[in-house]
Amino acid sequence: MTIHIYENAEQIGKAAAAILSAQVLQKPDCVLGLATGSSVLTTYSELIAANKAGLTDFSRVTTFNLDEYCGLPSTHEQSYKHFMRENLFNHINIDESNIFVPNGTAKDIAHECGRYEFSINNAGGIDLQLLGLGNNGHIAFNEPADAFRNTTHCVQLSESTIAANSRFFASEAEVPRAALTMGIGTIMRARKIVMVVYGAGKREAVAAMVRGAVTPKCPASVLQLHSNVVILADKSAVDN
Ligand code: GLP
Repeated sequence: MTIHIYENAEQIGKAAAAILSAQVLQKPDCVLGLATGSSVLTTYSELIAANKAGLTDFSRVTTFNLDEYCGLPSTHEQSYKHFMRENLFNHINIDESNIFVPNGTAKDIAHECGRYEFSINNAGGIDLQLLGLGNNGHIAFNEPADAFRNTTHCVQLSESTIAANSRFFASEAEVPRAALTMGIGTIMRARKIVMVVYGAGKREAVAAMVRGAVTPKCPASVLQLHSNVVILADKSAVDN
């Protein structure tokens, strides 16, 4: 793991966007794994700026999002598909047919999970995966658990995640209780991983991820076993 420490979220966004842009420049038809959440917003604004400035061309890029709430149609304001459209896809020259987000309203969830995993493999696997970090150490929606899950699956969200994500909904009761998420194996098969994390609220999770035991109780700790992970953090998220 390589950790770079910055002053603020803006710097982190610039650094992450530089890594993503470099990936696209090196391999114009690359496969990017993308994330939602507030931590990736500065990264996406920088990518939009790079695209508008003619520096980063997304026309041949394929993207796979990490996760999606169960039960929210893609038109719902809090669906991750909607988040991605609003914060990235609508503002860059990506081809709609190259955008993949799990379908949280699929009737046959097991089939949808298998289809999603197949699509990732069929695209040649993920070249570069962008990640945020949950307060409880989750990555995508892989919650603290007794075992690591390999592939895309349906997960029950933990009380702490429901509480953390309720800030985006009118009330906690409206937060979906389940989600579809890439598995830990899906994420670990990405050839490169870049994580953006900032704020004192993430400090415990960062310490457990970087220095703790590799355990499904802190899903992000598995990243210690990946050979190409860059963590972009601000000072308040890391212990001195
Ligand atoms: C959600 C997403 C995660 C993300 C996390 C952190 O739970 N499923 O992929 O990493 O939020 O969100 P934030 O960046 O808003 O703290």
